[in-house]
Amino acid sequence: MNVLIVGNGGREHALAWKIAQSPRAERVVVAPGNAGTARDAENVDLRADDFAGLVRFAKEARIGLTVVGPEAPLAAGIVDVFEREGLRIFGPTKAAAELESSKVFCKDLLRSANVPSADYRTFREVERAVTFLQQREDVPIVVKADGLAAGKGVIVCDNRQQALEAVDRIARQKVFGEAGNQLVIEERLHGEEASVLAITDGQTIVTLPPAQDHKRAKDGDQGPNTGGMGAYCPTPLVDDAMLHAIEEQILVPTVHAMKRSRRPFRGVLYAGLMITNQGPKILEYNVRFGDPETQPLLMRLKTDLLDVLDAAVEGRLDRIAPLEWDPRPAVCVVMASEGYPDEYPKGLPIRGLDDAAALPDVKVFHAGTALRDGQVVTSGGRVLGVTALGDTIALAKLNAYSAVRKIRWKGAWCRKDISDKAIKP
Ligand code: AMP
Ligand code: GLY
Repeated sequence: MNVLIVGNGGREHALAWKIAQSPRAERVVVAPGNAGTARDAENVDLRADDFAGLVRFAKEARIGLTVVGPEAPLAAGIVDVFEREGLRIFGPTKAAAELESSKVFCKDLLRSANVPSADYRTFREVERAVTFLQQREDVPIVVKADGLAAGKGVIVCDNRQQALEAVDRIARQKVFGEAGNQLVIEERLHGEEASVLAITDGQTIVTLPPAQDHKRAKDGDQGPNTGGMGAYCPTPLVDDAMLHAIEEQILVPTVHAMKRSRRPFRGVLYAGLMITNQGPKILEYNVRFGDPETQPLLMRLKTDLLDVLDAAVEGRLDRIAPLEWDPRPAVCVVMASEGYPDEYPKGLPIRGLDDAAALPDVKVFHAGTALRDGQVVTSGGRVLGVTALGDTIALAKLNAYSAVRKIRWKGAWCRKDISDKAIKP
């Protein structure tokens, strides 16, 4: 089968690398891909928002399955477009993708399904939001833009003053554009965050082992939010009993509620969780594989991923064998460009990739890279996801950082503490 993967980040490189290992995979093509996917698969120069071009290509190249990486094309309805053309595609429809693209829809659905989540109110009018904040007790609170804002539409506030400023930025100044047409104001939760992803065909869910992302730029979870500076899997933060509870109290009721609201959900349901004193609560849903969580997850997956995604598209996940995992944990360290998450230079040559790749149990996934005259150069903020297996999390971490040390470009940096929360002192 020929497979098309849409996107160009580390997640898409991991998907391409894993799917290309399937005995059933013939061509694996990534649109538009990066320097890493050019090596482990092939690239086609089509953007993720060029639906007409992607459909044309899928037909010409006889693509048997398309897998969508990022949220933007899903929210814009790529699955609906492909299905109308009779093309097989893995991911939620536009209506189902609202679980990520509208925080108001998501919160209302969670409330209707009794899924544990922060208390909240939604607002269409700025004045009402302001009055609400002024009348209630001055406590820590979170203000969220309703729509997609590249992970930046959430402002965590310590007090009323900050919350009022957040409302002003989102709803008056419209710093996230249309995404700020509606607001969610919610209770601030405390605890550790974890990511639990499940593959679902709308009926059956296959839950993947729990992972933990590191969203802040600096060690010790300091500094600004980023797309994710590293991840590891599994995380001891979520033990088997808790994973089971997350499935029963969060994932299954969500899939049922989506079906009831006539938006059957097929694809990856990614639960961003806060593990609070009262147990796990949902912070947000994403409707796609996580980046960088996918890198350590797929490094550990032994089962043929193409078989699983294929079964999901055909609605027969209830009939596949349980997924098999490498018992060893995996750690992914993101190497970033100088200046990220703000402005950063591009086009800097990267050295040492082959030396890093030669280390055992290491895979260097590319995120923001490109090929220029045969040389791999930087082309994004998050550049590489250096991923390694090890007998323990501490050894996986050691292996990942040994590989990181082999790789150089001007201004390259990474967090030094990825997975430390899982390592007992
Ligand atoms: P979201 O896009 O909703 O996951 O929000 C992004 C980040 O904001 C999360 O990963 C959390 O770190 C933080 N966050 C979101 N909602 C809350 C909340 N209710 N309480 C505390 N932190 C939150
Ligand atoms: N790891 C965060 C995300 O994929 O949204």
